[in-house]
Amino acid sequence: MKFLVINGPNLNLLGRREPAIYGNKSYAALCEHIQKTAAELGIEAEIMQSNHEGVIVDAIQDAIDRYDGIVINPAAYTHTSVAIADAIAAVEIPTAEVHLSDVDNREAFRRISYVTHVCVVRVTGLGFDSYSEAMKQLAAYISQNS
Ligand code: DQA
Repeated sequence: MKFLVINGPNLNLLGRREPAIYGNKSYAALCEHIQKTAAELGIEAEIMQSNHEGVIVDAIQDAIDRYDGIVINPAAYTHTSVAIADAIAAVEIPTAEVHLSDVDNREAFRRISYVTHVCVVRVTGLGFDSYSEAMKQLAAYISQNS
């Protein structure tokens, strides 16, 4: 099983970005955490990060026939991007939505997610463990539905 893990804008600044909300561990540490989880689950994970909406849309489109699942933290684009939601719906690859923070209990605008309705898994508020939990749930979903 092969997953594409997509991280959206400003996640490259993890560790120095609002540490009270996002923690003090770096983006490199997040990537290590994701790869460790992938190894434990016996799956292959490719990880990318972009600050650009169109690059993320291109990556989702390019995932067709190459990945069994997508794990995405669209970051700020969660709350604005019809284009990313449309891309996820278009490729029909089971997708998990992930957030480090508890987006439903922050500012009101963070309660709106354009991607939730096109994702089969949603995990929020567990820090790095949001990714491991989402990967586990997505792998189980794909095993049950293939
Ligand atoms: C985030 C939450 C978003 O609201 C925010 O814009 C981010 C990160 C999270 O992982 O908690 O950049 O997706």
